[in-house]
Amino acid sequence: MYPLIRNRRLRQSEAIRHLVRETIITPSDFLVPLFVVEGKNVKEEIPSMPNYFRMSLDHLEKEVKELWNMGLCAVLLFVKVPEKLKDNKGSEALNENGLMQLAIKTVKNACPDMLVMTDVALDPYSSYGHDGIVANGQIVNDDTVDVLAEMSVSHARAGANFVAPSDMMDGRVLSIREALEDEGFVDTGIMSYSAKYASAFYGPFRDALDSAPVDMDMVPKDKKSYQMDAANRFEALRETQQDIDEGADIVMVKPGLCYLDIVREIKNEVDVPVAVYQVSGEYAMLKAAAEKGWLDHDSVMMEQLLAIKRAGANIIASYFAKDAVKLM
Ligand code: PBG
Repeated sequence: MYPLIRNRRLRQSEAIRHLVRETIITPSDFLVPLFVVEGKNVKEEIPSMPNYFRMSLDHLEKEVKELWNMGLCAVLLFVKVPEKLKDNKGSEALNENGLMQLAIKTVKNACPDMLVMTDVALDPYSSYGHDGIVANGQIVNDDTVDVLAEMSVSHARAGANFVAPSDMMDGRVLSIREALEDEGFVDTGIMSYSAKYASAFYGPFRDALDSAPVDMDMVPKDKKSYQMDAANRFEALRETQQDIDEGADIVMVKPGLCYLDIVREIKNEVDVPVAVYQVSGEYAMLKAAAEKGWLDHDSVMMEQLLAIKRAGANIIASYFAKDAVKLM
């Protein structure tokens, strides 16, 4: 008998395809990463991230207003710290008038309802380019956690809605949660980079912030002693569950595309929102291929974002956010 079921019936026009579509990307899916630098009237393109910029506070103000008007309501802030302010303790990270603290206030002044999330890790502040304090050739866990907790309180005090620890130290979510509670910041949330892999896809980001690990004092030039091994799956579930137990409000998988199996697994296991970070290298790859005319930029971009959401992402941190929303 000829098949009674013809799956193509549901694909024959855009109208029916639209009607049965399971996954739809909207502006509210996005978290927009922004890179802030010192100075005035600075807006410099990041060489390995075409059409993405580091900007000074005056441009940041314009940018967030534009994002808000496009329906993009959440930003994730990163700062590029001048070399002379870097040390091995993250001192500048705690400066109440530091660039991050000023950036938070700038966004909140320009756009009070914009959700402000901040990166919490020492790498932009570290003379070693590591996410934590270095001693005897190692990245020290517990002393780092103390600084991260203080840093989180400082961000909350400046007005951050969420802090986003991206350092992968053990126990940092609990320490940050306790420090926030102690200081009365009970409504400040934690979006934890829970399953963050030691990935080569972060290269362009480290260019953007000049934050790559430095070759000195026999300290490893990679982050493999704290970020996760790309080969591991169970470990991602364990890390994520632990962060939730410690008080994470949102968990994250990073990078995106190569790790969508992990995203789906975590989504099936946990009941908190799951964020995915489509990282700088993923952005750079598509920009480069499109520049060569080898891939159609917009179609591939939307296909990738859709894949991330279909895999289980409730929130997508992406450098493509503006490009994508312009197409909607
Ligand atoms: C800092 C941090 C990194 C990224 C986000 N937060 C770099 C790293 O861990 O080395 C990467 C983001 C990207 O590549 O887009 N700890």
